[in-house]
This record gives sequence, structure tokens and C-alpha cells, in this order.
Amino acid sequence: MSARLAVFASGGGTNLQALLDHAATPGARYRVVLVVSDRPGAGALRRAVAAAVPSVVVPVAGRPAAEVEGDLLAALSAHDVDLVALAGYLRLVPEGVVRRYRGRMVNIHPAPLPRFGGEGMYGERVHRAVLEAGVPESGPTVHLVDEAYDRGEVLAHEAVPVLAGDTPASLAARVLEAEHALYPRVLDGLAARATAGATHQPTNR
Ligand code: GRF
Repeated sequence: MSARLAVFASGGGTNLQALLDHAATPGARYRVVLVVSDRPGAGALRRAVAAAVPSVVVPVAGRPAAEVEGDLLAALSAHDVDLVALAGYLRLVPEGVVRRYRGRMVNIHPAPLPRFGGEGMYGERVHRAVLEAGVPESGPTVHLVDEAYDRGEVLAHEAVPVLAGDTPASLAARVLEAEHALYPRVLDGLAARATAGATHQPTNR
């Protein structure tokens, strides 16, 4: 039995692709059953279509939080989602969604946490902060999602060296490659636990 994973993405979705690719390999413990984006133009949505995975756009800007939360919860219920992976999702997840998926929702961040995370720390800014700090290592961190940006319990981290002459872009590229290996591995582990502890067996599984 494989866990049913939803992936939330606002951007190009290379991590989504890594999760999809892994799900198609023998022995994968999860399958991607839904892609959620806040942006109708997100590249992640095209990847979902190419992989024949259902997707939904839930816009956030200018909408009451309760409405966004309701839309997300409805989509997750409709697809009987066990686990949620944020993969470049730039919005704060509404509290009701965090509550329902506590311990079953993770995010990947492209640097060590908590030092290089928090509100506004995304994209190039993260890697620039790492370079400015002069640390010898960076690398992706996977953590549980709670009510604040990048704050939940860290589940995994992969060290990636910072090299002399690195720019935010060159460091980002090296870290991204590590993300693509790390994220499916962590999701497999969570999926194995989720399905082992499953108390219900919906008929459409
Ligand atoms: C990744 O660097 C991830 O760590 C961060 O957002 C970026 C998403 O990239 N949370 P992609 O859309 O998966 O290519």
C-alpha cells in the first residue's frame, strides 16, 4: 500500500518532478495524487499534467483566509490525501490545514534551519545570506510544517559544501541537486510510517 501524497508548489516544480520520478520507481512508498498551486501559471502545474496527476489552483492573494483554508481542505479531502509535501510553496499554510496534517506535512528549505530561514527567506536571498555568513556548508533541510515559516521540527538535512567563488546561483544549483535526492527519500520514510499506522482503508486506495 502506498501513501497518498499532495504536493504544494508555487514555482517551476523541479522538486515536484523529483518526487514524481521517484514515485514511478519500484518500491516507492508514496504516490502523488494531487498538485496544488496558488499560481495559475506555475510550471509545477504543467509537470502535473505531463504526469497525469490531478491539480488544483487555489489562489491566495486578496482572498479571505477562511476561504483559502476551506478550498485547500476540500481538495485534500476529495483526494483522500495522507501526506503533504511543500515544494517551493511560497504561502503560509492556513492554520486549519496545519492542524489536520500536523506531523504529516513537510517542507524542504534550501539551507540549514533555523539560521537561514523564516519569513521572506526564499529563493536567492537564502543563498546570499549563507554566502554572507561565510559558513563552509549549506544544504537542504526537510522539516515538519507548523504555523510559522520554516520553524517546525527538522527531520533531515544534507550537507552541501560552499565552494570558493560561489555565487547565490551556483550554490543554489548545487543545493537543488541535493534536494532532489533528499526529498523523495524523506517522503518514502514518512509514507512507510503513515501507511503502517493507517487506521482506515478507503475503498479507492
Ligand atoms: C527549492 O529550492 C526549495 O528548497 C524551496 O523552493 C525551491 C523550489 O524549487 N522551498 P522548485 O520549484 O522545486 O524547482
